[in-house]
Amino acid sequence: MEKFAVIGNPIAHSLSPEMHHAAIHALGMEAVYTRQKIDIEQFNTEIPLFMEKMEGFNVTVPFKERIIPFLDSLDEFAEKCGAVNTVVRRNSKWVGYNTDGLGYLAGLAEIHPLRPTDSVLIIGAGGASKGIYLAIKEKIGSRVVVANRTISKAEQLIQGYPEDAALTISEAEKQLASFSVVIQTTSVGLLKTANETPLSLANLRPGTIVSDIIYNPKKTPFLKEAEEKRAIIQNGLPMFIHQGALAFELWTGQKPDTEIMKQAVLASL
Ligand code: ATR
Repeated sequence: MEKFAVIGNPIAHSLSPEMHHAAIHALGMEAVYTRQKIDIEQFNTEIPLFMEKMEGFNVTVPFKERIIPFLDSLDEFAEKCGAVNTVVRRNSKWVGYNTDGLGYLAGLAEIHPLRPTDSVLIIGAGGASKGIYLAIKEKIGSRVVVANRTISKAEQLIQGYPEDAALTISEAEKQLASFSVVIQTTSVGLLKTANETPLSLANLRPGTIVSDIIYNPKKTPFLKEAEEKRAIIQNGLPMFIHQGALAFELWTGQKPDTEIMKQAVLASL
C-alpha cells in the first residue's frame, strides 16, 4: 500500500486527503493519503521518522522552507521559489518540487489562459505570492506589478525582473484600470479579516479577470466587490485542485481526474 500525506501545523483543516482519496479511488489505486501534524519545535527529529514511511507528501505552512535541508535535490523551479510543497521519493532519493504557482496558472486557465500581453497586478508579497509571481515570469512572461502593505517585500520579490514594478496599495488602487488580471494573494478575507478587503476596487474596469487564492469562504468580500464591478471572478479552489493534481502526477505518473477531485473538496467544504 503506497502512503502519501500532507504535513503542516495546524493541519486539521486541510482538505487534501479528501481530494487525493477521490483521485486514488477513481483510478482504482491501492494507496492512502493522511494528514500529519508535525510539532514545530520537534520538526528536525520528527521529520526523518515520518519520511521513512512515505512514498511522497505535500508540505504546507509553516514547513515549506524548513523541509529543504532534508531533501536530496530540488527541481529547478522549487529552487527558484526557495519553497517546496511536494516531495517525491525517487530511487530512494528525496526530490522537492513546488506546484503552487503552476497549479495557480492551470486553475486560472479554466477561465483565462494567461498571455504574455496580459498586464497583471498581484496583491501581496508573501510565500503564496512568490510562487505565483515566479510561475508567471518563468512560464508566461507577462509584465507584473506587485502591491503590498509592506512595500519593501514587493520590491524584493520583483528583483531580477526590471520590467516589473512594486507599488503601495494606494498607488495600485489608482492604477487599477490598467490591469487585465488582478490576483489577490494575501490572507485578508480569512478569519479575523473575514469582512475586509486588501484594496479598493473602485477603479476596476468591467471584464477584468479578478482571482482570489482563498476558497473558504467561497466568495471573499474582495471577490464580491469585483463581481459588483462586473469583473470575471475566480476563487482559490481551482488553484488548490491543480496544485494537488500536479503533485499526484509527480508521485504516480498518472493524471488524476480534476473534476472528481473538485467535487470531493466541494462536498467537504
Ligand atoms: P503566505 O505564505 O500565505 O503568502 P505570508 O508570507 O505571511 O503568507 O504573507 C502574507 C501576505 O498577506 C503579505 O503580503 C502580507 O502583507 P505584509 O507583507 O505587509 O505583512 C499580507 N497581509 C496579511 N495581513 C494583511 C492585512 N491585514 N492587510 C494587508 N495585507 C496583509
